[in-house]
Amino acid sequence: MVTDTRSRPLRDLRISVTDRCSFRCGYCMPREIYDGHTYLERAEILSYGEIRRITRLATDLGVRKVRLTGGEPLLRSKAYRLVRMLSSLTELEDLAMTTNGLLLAREAERLKEAGLDRVTVSLDALDDSVFREMIDTDVPVATVLEAIDVASDVGLDPVKINTVVRRNRNEDQVLPLLEHFRGTGHTVRFIEFMDVGTTNSWNLDEVVPSVELLKIISERWKLEPIDPTYRGEVAQRYRFSDGGGEVGFISSVSEPFCGDCTRLRLSAEGKLYTCLFASKGTDLKVMLRSDASDDEIRDAIYRTWSDRTDRYSELRGGTPLGFPKVEMSYIGG
Ligand code: GTP
Ligand code: 5AD
Ligand code: SF4
Ligand code: SF4
Repeated sequence: MVTDTRSRPLRDLRISVTDRCSFRCGYCMPREIYDGHTYLERAEILSYGEIRRITRLATDLGVRKVRLTGGEPLLRSKAYRLVRMLSSLTELEDLAMTTNGLLLAREAERLKEAGLDRVTVSLDALDDSVFREMIDTDVPVATVLEAIDVASDVGLDPVKINTVVRRNRNEDQVLPLLEHFRGTGHTVRFIEFMDVGTTNSWNLDEVVPSVELLKIISERWKLEPIDPTYRGEVAQRYRFSDGGGEVGFISSVSEPFCGDCTRLRLSAEGKLYTCLFASKGTDLKVMLRSDASDDEIRDAIYRTWSDRTDRYSELRGGTPLGFPKVEMSYIGG
């Protein structure tokens, strides 16, 4: 077990398996920047065997929850094979994936059989034209809705829906999304637009604070707060008093949750980052590919975590801090 300089234990590992994505959400991979972008080459990214080895050593240090992300994790070929390799690690209590849903209907059953516990699907609108504007790609909402149903049918549940809200772009989708998902058992979580990376033209005026959404939603349905399920839960949860299920708010800008942050991130090219807003990582790939022993790699993970001081969101306030930050598509959502 290992704790950082602020006594936070290491519990979660978020693994980015590719820096590529099929969508071009403006808040994450704006088309102007990412269409001509140089992505990581195959030889630069970790193999599934290398990812499993790092995950196994991280479980020795306390990791119990793993999330596969990207970019879009299902763009990596035969992602279910990685899931199978990770689900055989007996210490892991929760193995989840965040996906944009485009390839999910096709892959859901194989992922479930391989041992994936659940999925979180990104969906920013119910209306087709707003959705297309948000993802800047020609995909109908129905594709993602169908994927959510398939995932739920095969048992990748509870399915969570992640909705990033930007003022004057998709605020008007908040009630329709809830109307659609209430009563289905799937939980929608509204995420404040964050200043991750340096390419998404973040602006505080476009952040819709969760309190504002809570007010709008409460005018329509009666809500009751629910206690967090575990220490460090990112979303503040509420239940619909009429039994319609739950809604969550991820308020990284208006109410930072660094104090309980237990998340370590592994990039597709094998660097470890201790914060979503980090600028430097610990290169594990060079160790993996130069015959370092398990003890040496475990020790590098240990030191990376024990030296950790991060609390970016608490320090930022309303003004992004001006050092180079890695991009969300590189470090994982
Ligand atoms: P569950 O285990 O399903 O509750 O996962 P989670 O709450 O970690 O949710 P998820 O992995 O889906 O994260 C949801 C969103 O919250 C991410 O896409 C980010 O936008 C944001 N988020 C997650 N972790 C962090 C974090 O450590 N810092 C900040 N600032 N935002 C985060
Ligand atoms: N702000 C908030 N959330 C973001 N995501 C990506 N970029 C941002 C951002 N700038 C999240 C979305 C998506 C996940 C992959 O990453 O929730 O669902
Ligand atoms: Fe792709 Fe998700 Fe980023 Fe959108 S938010 S561009 S779907 S990785
Ligand atoms: Fe954790 Fe960094 Fe997010 Fe704070 S800003 S919750 S330290 S990842």
